[in-house]
Amino acid sequence: MAPPNAPITVHFSGGKIRYLNPDERSTAALIRNGLIKYKNENGLVETSPGISMERIGLEQVLKKLPNPVLLSENGSDEIENANTFILGDDRDPTDEEMKLLEKIPNISLGKESLLSSACVTLIHHHLDSNK
Ligand SMILES: C[S@@+](CC[C@H](N)C(=O)[O-])C[C@H]1O[C@@H](n2cnc3c(N)ncnc32)[C@H](O)[C@@H]1O
Repeated sequence: MAPPNAPITVHFSGGKIRYLNPDERSTAALIRNGLIKYKNENGLVETSPGISMERIGLEQVLKKLPNPVLLSENGSDEIENANTFILGDDRDPTDEEMKLLEKIPNISLGKESLLSSACVTLIHHHLDSNK
């Protein structure tokens, strides 16, 4: 969402991904190099194997993804057949983003505020347990 060309959505495809090492620096480099490559592009472009970029924002992303839910400490809805999970990062979603997200179920993993990475681990466990 940063200027000058927001919004850009970055999509990682686990089945096709290459050159993604388990450290933040190389992940950041893949995103940076992709953004440089995508600078004058439009539409969906694969900037490196398994990483694609598109000029769409949260509203369009939500329409594309199946059964999205928001993870929130204050959520009170059931997880049911959710298979897209939206998280904040070091900050919660903005008020503008929350206007789009209030239409989807809110799921809590407990009242304690957890790191986003811990939430992802818990959701993987949940999905694996329900296969
Ligand atoms: C580090 S937390 C956000 C920090 C905190 N709410 C704040 O702004 O100070 C990052 C994200 O993880 C998710 N999250 C954290 N704890 C959670 C919980 N107990 N249940 C569900 N989602 C949680 C939420 O989506 C949250 O936006």
